[in-house]
Amino acid sequence: MTLLLDPSVGLGDGCTLSADDQRLISQIQGRTYAGIFGVAERFVNAKIVEMQAAHVFDGQTALEALVRFSDEELKHQELFRRVEALCEQAMPKGYVFAADPNDVARAVMSKSTWAVLALTLHIELFTQSHYRESIDGDAMLSPLYKDVFKYHWREECQHAMLDELEFRRVDARPATRTATSSSRNSLNWWGLSTAFSRRRQKPTQPISPRSAAACSGPMQQVRHPR
Ligand SMILES: [Fe+2]
Ligand SMILES: [Fe+2]
Repeated sequence: MTLLLDPSVGLGDGCTLSADDQRLISQIQGRTYAGIFGVAERFVNAKIVEMQAAHVFDGQTALEALVRFSDEELKHQELFRRVEALCEQAMPKGYVFAADPNDVARAVMSKSTWAVLALTLHIELFTQSHYRESIDGDAMLSPLYKDVFKYHWREECQHAMLDELEFRRVDARPATRTATSSSRNSLNWWGLSTAFSRRRQKPTQPISPRSAAACSGPMQQVRHPR
């Protein structure tokens, strides 16, 4: 994770590694980044499946949106499994991604719904930011790798809108505000508590139709196993 996130270990100007070593480090970063998404998709989907129950008897539009959201997250898990398989074929032996998606999902799902939705929304938002700032404009990246994250980004844009709707619905419940303090504290390891308290004080702007249209576009190339 240090390698992935610490800019001081970056591969930009001043890097003294050989070209081969730089390529290997870049591959480790890219493989790990995709692996982290594969892990996160498991608990995101677990919570979204749970949230569908709240709309079973009323909002059929909301239910349909969350069912499609869930379908896409299952598809994304398969997408990142394929990325991992391609990396395994091409890279030297010895790479291990230690985190188990189910262990992580069980730990996350043990927290309050407020906390899990806050974490999920944060992930959906930084996914978009990472794509725009670190992937889209990088001419050195593999075109296939860029496409994976381009089409993932398009669907995550829509997920972020749904996440925010669900987060606001849960956040508005009086019981939620008193029952989630311990779970909020547990978000500190993601550095999110401060960010979300700021977000609550300053409501986000409504999503414009133009922004929503820019985010649309199904990713049909990869389907999860039925
Ligand atoms: Fe996803
Ligand atoms: Fe998502």
